[in-house]
Amino acid sequence: MFNLLKDDDLTAEQMTRVLGLAAADEPAGHALAGRSVLLVFLERSTRTRVSLEVAVSSMGGSPVLLDNLRSRLADGETLADTGRVMAQYTDLAFIRAYQDDIDAFAAGFGRTTVSAGSDLWHPTQILADLLTLQQEFGNLRGLPISFVGDGNDICNSVMLGACALGLHVRVATPPDHRPAGFAVERARHAGELSGGSLTLLTDPAEAVSGTRAVYTDVWRSMVPDDQHEKEERFVEFADYQVNEKLFSHADPDAVFLHCLPARRDEEVTSALLDSSRSRVLQQARNRLRVNRALLQLLPDFAREAPHAGR
Ligand code: CP
Ligand code: NVA
Repeated sequence: MFNLLKDDDLTAEQMTRVLGLAAADEPAGHALAGRSVLLVFLERSTRTRVSLEVAVSSMGGSPVLLDNLRSRLADGETLADTGRVMAQYTDLAFIRAYQDDIDAFAAGFGRTTVSAGSDLWHPTQILADLLTLQQEFGNLRGLPISFVGDGNDICNSVMLGACALGLHVRVATPPDHRPAGFAVERARHAGELSGGSLTLLTDPAEAVSGTRAVYTDVWRSMVPDDQHEKEERFVEFADYQVNEKLFSHADPDAVFLHCLPARRDEEVTSALLDSSRSRVLQQARNRLRVNRALLQLLPDFAREAPHAGR
């Protein structure tokens, strides 16, 4: 069984293969002809859902969308039971949901399941971001990058994915919003194997200093709008806005990254988001390339999985 639910479910070598194929983005013809790819979205999405639908269709496959409003999930059918049934119709699944729900679905589905983003990880996003950095700078190994803001799903995947490919990652968060210990541990372990490293800080200027890319994301993830909590967060995160002043501490050729959607003039100023240093649309475009590359390579990764064929 092979699942891609967090960044280190791929080896560094497999990640490099995904990036190589995505960089070339050659037409994949009818690689998915006759195959149905289930797209489960229990949380909202714009980019991930549309780029997956387009990728699957462009390869001759059928994308099948399942959400929690118009399915029996709304009536309480469990994700494991839903997964068991979906395996009767579809060959492969991408799912966006809280991590516990993704794990339950994957256990029931019993076929390759790929995270389309959870509260803990967003591995396909970070592959697109690494591709963006590769297109910009050529070589990824040894590249210093920073992440400023909330220690959230994107922060976890930036730390883990980038450390696995030998980048040096500096993270600055408010003291009460550090990334989770398990994510830090995994990223540090990945860095030990690759020559990468992770440094955790609270001073945003120190984190950004001399880095070649500055990444940020929203200050509140996967939560309903709560005005009171939002105002409290704004106070805690005020010094962590990525604006031109903070960005000026980065290397002169640094690029600005954001997975989107952005909250303009909250975690990033509109001026920087729209500036010539911003690569956010390139990141979004690269989601499609990475989806296509993954869809081509997933069968190989399943064959290469340690317990394949047993
Ligand atoms: N970056 C990203 O995953 O965007 P969506 O939530 O719109 O899919
Ligand atoms: N951290 C963000 C990522 C969006 C792709 C969120 O969970 O909303």
